[in-house]
Amino acid sequence: MRVLVIGSGGREAAIAWACRRHDHDVRVAAELPSPIDADLVIVGPEAALVAGVSDQCMDAGVPCFGPSASLARLESSKGFTRTLAKTLGLPSPAFHLSSSAEEAIAWWRELGRPVVVKLDGLAAGKGVIVPDGAEATEAAIRELVEQGPIVLEERLTGPECSLMALCDGTVARPLPIAQDHKRIGEGDTGPNTGGMGAYAPAPIPYDPDELTATFIQPVLDHLADVGAPYIGVLYAGLMLTADGPKLLEYNCRFGDPEAQAVLPLLTDDLAELALACCNGALGERHVQSAGASCTVVAAAPGYPATPITGGAITFGADCDDALLFRAGTDGQSVTGGRVLAVTGLGDDLATARDRAYERLGDVSFDGMQVRRDIGWRSIGARLTSYAAAGVDIDEGTRAVDQMKEAVERTHGPAVLRGVGSFGGVFSLAAIKAMDDPLLVASTDGVGTKVELAARLGQYRGVGMDIVNHCIDDVLVQGARPLFFLDYIASSKLDADQVAEVVTGMAEACEVAGCALLGGETAEMPGVYAPGAFDIAGTLVGVVDRANLLPQGELQVGDVLLGVASNGPHTNGYSLLRKIFDWLPMDSTPPGFDAPLGTTLLRPHRNYLPVLDKVLQAGSVKALAHITGGGLPENLPRVLPTGIDANIELGSWPVPPLFALVREVAVGMPTDELYRTLNMGIGMVVVCGPEQVEMVQGMIDEPTWRIGELVAADDHADDDAESRHGRKVHLR
Ligand code: AMP
Ligand code: GLY
Repeated sequence: MRVLVIGSGGREAAIAWACRRHDHDVRVAAELPSPIDADLVIVGPEAALVAGVSDQCMDAGVPCFGPSASLARLESSKGFTRTLAKTLGLPSPAFHLSSSAEEAIAWWRELGRPVVVKLDGLAAGKGVIVPDGAEATEAAIRELVEQGPIVLEERLTGPECSLMALCDGTVARPLPIAQDHKRIGEGDTGPNTGGMGAYAPAPIPYDPDELTATFIQPVLDHLADVGAPYIGVLYAGLMLTADGPKLLEYNCRFGDPEAQAVLPLLTDDLAELALACCNGALGERHVQSAGASCTVVAAAPGYPATPITGGAITFGADCDDALLFRAGTDGQSVTGGRVLAVTGLGDDLATARDRAYERLGDVSFDGMQVRRDIGWRSIGARLTSYAAAGVDIDEGTRAVDQMKEAVERTHGPAVLRGVGSFGGVFSLAAIKAMDDPLLVASTDGVGTKVELAARLGQYRGVGMDIVNHCIDDVLVQGARPLFFLDYIASSKLDADQVAEVVTGMAEACEVAGCALLGGETAEMPGVYAPGAFDIAGTLVGVVDRANLLPQGELQVGDVLLGVASNGPHTNGYSLLRKIFDWLPMDSTPPGFDAPLGTTLLRPHRNYLPVLDKVLQAGSVKALAHITGGGLPENLPRVLPTGIDANIELGSWPVPPLFALVREVAVGMPTDELYRTLNMGIGMVVVCGPEQVEMVQGMIDEPTWRIGELVAADDHADDDAESRHGRKVHLR
């Protein structure tokens, strides 16, 4: 088919591209030639239609896709459109036609709401003012009324979309819904332009066929009834208000830049479709499309007010995934306001958008104006709930329901408010009996052990870990736990998993007579890696000042008694996970009494029941909880200046897990190993040499004499190359 496209902008370039794609012989011309040497004419701009191009074709017997001058009034006269829409009962804003400023102002005052002021006639996008405030509204009315009759419209709010339908006089078929970006500035700010970008299909909560039935078909039916069938594109500019879609305007042609976005999506032949429209045969044809597109306009400096032309353009290389449509350029330099548009294509909008911007990165001219936000509304438009953004409040509620019982089991009479209240409330009445009660508080986290727990799907133990870790931290100052508060964060909240963790916490609290007073569960997609979670907690305990540890003076000759750990507790997991990366977690290495995964996940011990008796007897001078930093870093926390500790390696049985680590990590110095892992000792009791037997007797499990306190000696042989100030000597 010989197709003649009338016009000279980016839209016409896109129409031509869509026809050439199906091997038609396409010519683009600014004006209708004589004679009209074409089998089909497709008209781009409204001005050509208003000037009667379609009527001229009709006279010459050439099929023309585009309405007659008389029907182009749908676009050229806003008053005509508003009156027609009212007659047909189409959802529209309240409006008023006027030629007098005073009368228009009176109508607006009566309406009592913000309005938009529009010139009745064509004004190339410049005849619309959206004023803010009374002063600006009056000024806008006075300004536009000078230029001709005006239309005042109730100012609607909501996202806009462009519904373009191919019409054959009786049948209308919608193209994918597009969204234009009318303002010059990012975030939809600044003056209106012809359009700085568009994308399609726009995610809107309405069916394009239903929108067509509401906004296009009644007009088509009406015009057919009055003997003036509408052939061409009927474009309804819609605003999607809280009260549903409303009509902003009709255009009698493809939108620009909507055409550049929508036409490349058509899989059907545009020329054939347009010809079918001219022949009243659209009903027999499909209008099919696929994929997503994003069109970004590059505008001249000074656009839209006073575009500066003449600058040289670099176009960059052609590519398959993006199309470049020229508009205000002669192929070398800037000749108009909107200079060109690039359309990226893809299976989804994100891909299409990336491709558009990538291709546009190749294009440059001085002062090039490009909005970087084309399509930005689509992300918000797709979300229907917080859950869709990855945060599921219902799942949080489900987790709370599941954990509630276990948590409430930890609540004695001291708990006045717990789960569900803004803050936990705990009565201190019981500790009034103490002479000088001291609160001891500790906050800690489980560390990277949680990764292992998540991998193996075993969550209860890490809940116990955090509570017991905190209990031991206050226990070494002689304090007993009062209450605990937890924090669980994850990329994706899973109620069952959270309930498992909190149940573990509650069980550990119950054993220790500690109230689980409150907590927080946070769902943080994008902060935590997918599948990851994190656990932390705070524990508050109490001790009477007389029982605060350390007690008395630590002296040379005091004995260090080691109490067994249950495993690595909560430390060294980054190392352990690395060392055992390729060893299956369900394998059982020699000497182990359980599979590797189970061994690694054994919960932190709570030393309160173990040491309760001996603490009450008052025979302990100090306690050191062996956590991060191991024996070398934790013992010094209770040692006074001038006193060091000697640790006799081999004085306690190193459990199989630690022995295996020592065997495998052949290059790791002993000191480094003991700094990373507890190596089988989770708690160290310091007591006078004469108390050793009694203390060991009051602890109902094996303990080991692992070393003693010595005078600080800068010349100790194993100390020669070590850091200054080291207090623990591994021998
Ligand atoms: P128009 O040329 O009539 O589509 O108006 C240009 C732009 O002005 C529209 O795309 C809207 O952003 C805005 N506009 C027009 N009419 C209204 C209205 N009644 N309420 C709110 N905004 C409007
Ligand atoms: N992009 C809006 C229009 O073509 O009217």
